[in-house]
Amino acid sequence: MQNKNKIILTGDRPTGPLHLGHYVGSLKARVALQDKYECYFIIADYQVLTDQLNKSKEIENNIKEIVLDYLSVGIDPNKSTIFVQSQIPEIAELYVIFSMLVTFQRVKRNPTVKEEIKASGIKKPSLGFISYPVSQAADILCVRANLVPVGKDQLPHIELTREIARTFNRTFKKVFPIPEPILSKTPILPGLDGQKMSKSRGNAIFLKDDPKTVEKKVMKAITDPKKVRLGDPGHPEICNIYNYYQAFFPKHAEELKELCPSGKLGCVECKKQLAKMLNEFLDPIRQKRKEFGKKPKLIKEILEEGRIKTQKKIKKTLELVKEAMQIT
Ligand code: TRP
Repeated sequence: MQNKNKIILTGDRPTGPLHLGHYVGSLKARVALQDKYECYFIIADYQVLTDQLNKSKEIENNIKEIVLDYLSVGIDPNKSTIFVQSQIPEIAELYVIFSMLVTFQRVKRNPTVKEEIKASGIKKPSLGFISYPVSQAADILCVRANLVPVGKDQLPHIELTREIARTFNRTFKKVFPIPEPILSKTPILPGLDGQKMSKSRGNAIFLKDDPKTVEKKVMKAITDPKKVRLGDPGHPEICNIYNYYQAFFPKHAEELKELCPSGKLGCVECKKQLAKMLNEFLDPIRQKRKEFGKKPKLIKEILEEGRIKTQKKIKKTLELVKEAMQIT
């Protein structure tokens, strides 16, 4: 069922290793999509610098971790193309052109950017940060992608990308498709403390965590706040741990819907079971990661191949863009 007419692009900021939230929200879908479409996965390193300039030294290692995460969950470099944003300067060139197709008023209206500024407490965001959605439009349109799998928070960026594509096509000549988002259907998996899962909050289980770490983290997780002692009836609908069962082990979640309210199952027991099941799920992923990790040249080769393939495509896009604009 190859459909090489449709191009997919999505990606990640290399801020650290990927966690279970990334798996259920995105990676799992990518593994399926790569059999049907021409897929590109961008590791957006410049985007990290837009609000974390002090992390520049860590990016190289984070890129390696992310590629290992990709490979270990089944993203196959023979099917998909993985590349690093900063290794293809033509993307930045396209960003320059795009920056003149949107007004400053328009970029300032992005609700996700506003939210991120508020959450991070950054008082004086850089120009690069305010305009990173324009850079993301270049990430997407440089390969002339048709579909962009993302979470809900990224929808304003896709809307802006569509506007930029339309403006370019209208002003000059039709070069770009109008890309559509593929919105992740799975509910966002909260962190072990019930808050948004993130590396900085220390509430995430990483794909690379060893079994002991997974167990320790799960045992510390919050559960149903209304269930105080063993024997109390539980409420799966407000239990954070239940979210994990639903996301990873839906059959078991169905059983818990009966068992937990009966009060017969203690939270400690339930968490032990979850840790065991998660470890069984993660075992083959960890095994693959270990094997890929033994080949130090592999990651470099994959990224180099990805760069060559993507750059060829982007050079063609820029050629079309400049031809349409009648600039050399
Ligand atoms: N902003 C995205 C995130 O934080 C990462 C990203 C960069 C991206 N460029 C992209 C996602 C292009 C989709 C398409 O998750």
